[in-house]
Amino acid sequence: MSNKSLESQEDIPYTSDKTPIYRSACWFHHRFLRGKFLTKPLHILRFRLIITGWGYLPLLNLNNMPIADRLKLIGRFLKIDWNVMHAHRPMEITIICRTISEHGQAGKDEIFIEAGCWKGGSSAKFSIICKIFGYKLHIYDSFEGIEEMSPDQIDGATDYSGMFSETKELVEYNLRTYGEASVCSLHKGWFIKTLASKPVRKPIMVVYIDCDFPKGTEEVLKGTLLSLLPDGVIFSQDYFIKPVRRLLHNPETWQRFGRAMPDIRYEFHHLASIRFEKSVDQ
Ligand SMILES: C[S@@+](CC[C@H](N)C(=O)[O-])C[C@H]1O[C@@H](n2cnc3c(N)ncnc32)[C@H](O)[C@@H]1O
Repeated sequence: MSNKSLESQEDIPYTSDKTPIYRSACWFHHRFLRGKFLTKPLHILRFRLIITGWGYLPLLNLNNMPIADRLKLIGRFLKIDWNVMHAHRPMEITIICRTISEHGQAGKDEIFIEAGCWKGGSSAKFSIICKIFGYKLHIYDSFEGIEEMSPDQIDGATDYSGMFSETKELVEYNLRTYGEASVCSLHKGWFIKTLASKPVRKPIMVVYIDCDFPKGTEEVLKGTLLSLLPDGVIFSQDYFIKPVRRLLHNPETWQRFGRAMPDIRYEFHHLASIRFEKSVDQ
């Protein structure tokens, strides 16, 4: 990569949108609650739900779904948030659900890929929307946490090595208890051994990447780009991580896979969407 392109990528804009209400609540939380009343991570997430839960409201406008089902969907998502530790915000899930609902019912064999599930909080939510719209959900994870990151992969960002480790059994339990286990398949192993070695053959509507570093992101792209539908969407939940932004905004990344530079759009908090322009014959 030329120095010029590297330099320009240093400036990829990213500002996590933290509203004044959110900032005030964080201040209140750190000053008065954390360590005194909120001692457990799940309790902190439950408190945060008071400020972030509004992010499900746009689900009331979802296409292709009766209103009673939309209300039920929000109820089920809130139940997951209350009971399962997770690493995403309601609005991020809403944006992905909207993409699925705008596409409508799945075509033959169409699937949704989640790469990086931790305890299965996001997976349980995706499984519900997949069941409603007829998709199968394929979940990939090492179940050993985030791979050991070398200093050049960390590149000034946080070293997440070994974090977010959870057992496959717990994810299966959460899918059975809160989600729709019948539409899910779990694939255990490092992305380099699973997705990158055996690219997915079924038509993919959504790829959701949440692995916290660029090497894993690239391995997931390698395993999914060939089967991504023309109107399929890749979501990166790692857009807040500078090395990941640099990977995604580098045209050479996409050249390596024989693709033109996609449209990369910052969506909300840590989430960005990646879409390819449809060619004339598609
Ligand atoms: C931040 S957590 C995912 C959080 C989850 N999506 C949620 O919203 O609650 C990242 C996950 O990626 C997995 N992971 C990271 N790097 C990986 C790799 N190279 N191969 C397989 N799994 C990986 C970790 O095991 C972990 O479960």
